[in-house]
Amino acid sequence: MAAQKIGFYGHVRQYHDLKAELDGAIQSVLESGTYVLGPRVKQFEEELARYCNQREAVGVNSGTDALWLVFLALGFGPGDEIITTSNTFFATAEAIWLVGATPVFVDIDPKTRNIDPKLIEAAIGPRTKAIVPVHLYGQPADMRAVVGIAKKHHLRMIEDCAQALGARGADFAIGELSDAVCTSFIIQKNLGCFGDGGAVITDNPEIATAVRTLRNHGSLKRSHHRLGYNSRLDEIHAATLSVKLKHLDRWSDRRIAIARQYDAALAGSSLQLPSTHPGDRVVFHLYVVETDERDALQSWLDAEGITALTHYPIAIHQQQGFPWGRPARISGSLGHTERSAARVLSLPMYPELTDAEVSRVIETIVAWDKTQVRAAAPAAR
Ligand SMILES: Cc1ncc(COP(=O)(O)O)c(C=O)c1O
Repeated sequence: MAAQKIGFYGHVRQYHDLKAELDGAIQSVLESGTYVLGPRVKQFEEELARYCNQREAVGVNSGTDALWLVFLALGFGPGDEIITTSNTFFATAEAIWLVGATPVFVDIDPKTRNIDPKLIEAAIGPRTKAIVPVHLYGQPADMRAVVGIAKKHHLRMIEDCAQALGARGADFAIGELSDAVCTSFIIQKNLGCFGDGGAVITDNPEIATAVRTLRNHGSLKRSHHRLGYNSRLDEIHAATLSVKLKHLDRWSDRRIAIARQYDAALAGSSLQLPSTHPGDRVVFHLYVVETDERDALQSWLDAEGITALTHYPIAIHQQQGFPWGRPARISGSLGHTERSAARVLSLPMYPELTDAEVSRVIETIVAWDKTQVRAAAPAAR
């Protein structure tokens, strides 16, 4: 009998695990007759702000909108530059382009795959307005180092936390050191709704009010006092997010436990494994290994019914989508970013994976790794 397939996402299993609660929450919204920006959004915003130990959270339509609306709220626009990395989902840079500003890419630390703080100062110029560290794959960026640079140069700092809700640094919490945190609730995220959603989380009431206004056509109380947009969070999404938020820490613990199993079993292999700072709570949105033989490993897993994906195989500065003739500025070499893009492979990683499935992924990789060792060995005489 063929072995069962191991897919890349667990959200349908998650729905089945919480079906009664989620169905009840959705039903109560349907019965209420209020579907957009109502009491469930308000309640979820309060719960999320409390969870992040910040004063305010503002629900919006997506993680992309969260970034874009914060940039608008902070007044970034044409002529401004915002420093980030090219090793992230396209939306991080897209939001910068959308306000008319220019992304400035600095290279990553090849171990953490996050922005390398040592390279930031060389990228700062007279037009620099902000730094946007991305907590990629659920791993906190080195915020203590970045905040020192931001303060010294009077720059804003906005965290792209789309992949890392629930993470924390050894000596800092997400949100503690920055102006605002942006996150995404697209279904496959660590906290996902049943469609698109996002939020801005901040201790700064002015930023919160500006985003609240911008998400609703520039209006707070039926008068439109600035140009805004329609980026409201729906009640159904908020109600399901309230249910799921209560489980987020448990799910993160399970992700961490799976990561430990991968770490232990693959430590002696030819793969480069994730490298984390001691004491950080890394919530493993993705478990990303690296190898020069990435495509071969992916095909090997696929042949065994195991889906592994690439995040992200083309760095942003290598994409075709530079908008409106305004490419990014590249500071120094992006050699580590490019090398990583060519080598990354994300293994199945979600709380609903069973131990048997994790073991099968490991056994399949170990079997592949043996073929690599044989291939690399000198020919017998
Ligand atoms: C790092 C990062 N930033 C921004 C986004 C954008 O979020 P969304 O898809 O909700 O617009 C995503 C996810 O999709 C992401 O992974």
